[in-house]
Amino acid sequence: MAKQHIISRRMVLGGAASLLALIAADHSVARALARPRRQRAPHDARIERLIAQMTLEQKAGQLTLYADSNNFTIEEGAIPVNPTANNQARRDIIDKIGKGHLTGLFSGQGFNDAMALQRMAVEQAPLGIPLIFGGDVIHGFRTIFPVPIGEAASFDPELCARTARAAAVEATTHGIQWTFAPMVDVARDQRWGRVAEGAGEDPYLGSIIAAARVRGFQGPDLTADTSMLACPKHFAAYGGVQGGMDYNTVDIPETTLRETFLPPFRAAFNAGALTTMSAFNDIGGVPATANHHLLTGILRDEWGFSGLVVSDYTADWELVPHGFAADSRDAAKKSLMAGCDISMQSGLYLDHIPDLVRNGEVPMRVVDEAVRRVLRVKAAIGLFDNPYRSLDFAGTRARVGNADLHALAREGGRQSIVMLKNDDALLPLRKSGQKIALIGPFGADTRDLMGAWSIYPDFDQAVPVDVGLRSSIANPADLVVVKGCEVTAPIDGGIAAAVAAAHAADVVLLAIGESADMAGEAQSRVDIVVPPAQQALAEAVAATGKPIVILLRHGRALALHGAVKNAQAILATWFLGSQTGHAIADIIFGDHSPSGRLPVSFPQESGQQPYFYNHRNTGRAQTNPDEPSFRSRYREVSFAPLYPFGHGLTYGSVEYSATTVSSELLTQSGSVTVTCTLRNSGAQSVREVAQLYIHDKVASLTQPVRQLKGFEAITLAPGESRDVHFTLTADDLAFVNAQLQHVAEPGLFDIWIAPNAHGGTGAMLRLG
Ligand code: NOJ
Repeated sequence: MAKQHIISRRMVLGGAASLLALIAADHSVARALARPRRQRAPHDARIERLIAQMTLEQKAGQLTLYADSNNFTIEEGAIPVNPTANNQARRDIIDKIGKGHLTGLFSGQGFNDAMALQRMAVEQAPLGIPLIFGGDVIHGFRTIFPVPIGEAASFDPELCARTARAAAVEATTHGIQWTFAPMVDVARDQRWGRVAEGAGEDPYLGSIIAAARVRGFQGPDLTADTSMLACPKHFAAYGGVQGGMDYNTVDIPETTLRETFLPPFRAAFNAGALTTMSAFNDIGGVPATANHHLLTGILRDEWGFSGLVVSDYTADWELVPHGFAADSRDAAKKSLMAGCDISMQSGLYLDHIPDLVRNGEVPMRVVDEAVRRVLRVKAAIGLFDNPYRSLDFAGTRARVGNADLHALAREGGRQSIVMLKNDDALLPLRKSGQKIALIGPFGADTRDLMGAWSIYPDFDQAVPVDVGLRSSIANPADLVVVKGCEVTAPIDGGIAAAVAAAHAADVVLLAIGESADMAGEAQSRVDIVVPPAQQALAEAVAATGKPIVILLRHGRALALHGAVKNAQAILATWFLGSQTGHAIADIIFGDHSPSGRLPVSFPQESGQQPYFYNHRNTGRAQTNPDEPSFRSRYREVSFAPLYPFGHGLTYGSVEYSATTVSSELLTQSGSVTVTCTLRNSGAQSVREVAQLYIHDKVASLTQPVRQLKGFEAITLAPGESRDVHFTLTADDLAFVNAQLQHVAEPGLFDIWIAPNAHGGTGAMLRLG
């Protein structure tokens, strides 16, 4: 889209050297992908020779990936990332590698013996095809960056690219060549625990961030020792699970699939991603892992994707409990025939493909094509030239946990914080001359701050909130820390101690919210609130009458109530990773103005879910909260959110002029410039994220009340005014019609440049 390019250009002009490298990477990947069909890649001939020589078992082995059994016992206190289903004994894995019956391993913790296993695959196994080593490096490796939903709140694709690059540089020191990231699922229901892993509810923001993360992971040269193959997941529509319950069914029209859930995948592939992971869910009754329409029709035939599809963890076997396959054999056949190339963890392909081919139930050409895709991806990351890439740990230690990474994690952390509320300018706080009580289960915590999807963190690096705050204030004795309660349970005498500390303080910081294990895979919640034990703590502390700042920790939007909702100031701090304490201190004491924006709407109540700003209007929309019945509303609350998508305050005060358009008529081939003047009437310099929204007033399919089509961050000094411009073309106004065509229908559109999805004074535009 037009704006995406404007942002990239701006950032390059801004002198971001790292971004130049990333964009160069983009071009090299794009060049590789744009290779004329008949022109053969350097390794094609070798790949064809290999396929001609391979036994059926070796072919099935190239389509089989197992978890590294050396690492089933992950670090004490860490959260298990997968069920232990079908874990293979070490000797079986070694046996398979020796016969050339395995394509690779994943989830290793350090891969200490990866070099030896690779030697066995290359030097001893027949045909010598290198293994590939994968892992879930979602938001950092040893150094942990903010959880993806938090980082998305930065509305800063360059930051997302830089942290992904840094994660790749660290993770490749430990042999991880392929990350199962980014998760690009658009999440429309905050009950779903995996909201934490993605970029939120909006397909436009999600697409820009998906592309940035792919560029970051893969770096300028896919074959480099520091590059990590990206795997956008979960293809597709996993974020649309009914009721927000993980693994549940998805029932959406094809128009919604294409309009909402697919764009971030397309963006990730356009940025050079060569792999994708099939989702656990079904769509309208067809599980994604056996969905020919999705994996072959759309992905390969329509989009021309030449990379590989890996199933999610045992997702091929799960066709049986889904009720889509009769048994394991049937499941293997259905997923392979649909276009799923690699079976993750179930071992079904190894068990059944040879027999399915011998019996004529699966054509050899289908197997060969899947093997070809896998080998081409291995060639693309340089494994045929150097099978030992990223496996030599000697001399790579300096790439892990160094000062630059800490600085980036701190920068990423503070950019991800969203100031939801700041009544009477309570924030920023002074660094001296006032007593601060830090109360709550997350005040001194060093584990939850890493979030659920950090499986390789260095906990010794963690900077908890209390340490960060104390290192910023003049007199460390001015900060008192009281836990008050556990995450979900009271502590004997906890509330009394907290209340006493609050009485003795000038201001209270309440560090409350969700623990890491409450937001992530299989962690759907029926009630997305601050757990009752912490709510009780907040109520008791609020009764002291002291000013309160909420430091909310969370992996999703929450419904805030009572003392939490009514606190004078609220910061959404997600799970900020290794440098949590410093990042929060940077904002609390005003060294940096908050600039994050919500990538998900905060509802008033859990019962509003699924809630997303880009909903349709209905024929009886509630336009005024006082309106009586027979309107699209709940009895208890209006249809409005508590805080809308895009919302976020700064320490400045930015006023938006009315939006103007350079012409009220846009032709199908032309463009218009949309402009708004922003003025900072506050006393502190700010980074303001201006957002461009559209609304198609009348269309052959009813359209969302607003849709994000661009955003731009600008810095405004106190008293400074600046114009923000966006370019709109007919393509930006297009949608997927009932015939599944991408069309820009003539008619009237509302256009806003606004501080959030509910603000701004719009202009009118006619598309001719
Ligand atoms: C299951 C998860 O759904 C997926 O995101 C992850 O990559 C795999 N497990 C492997 O750990």
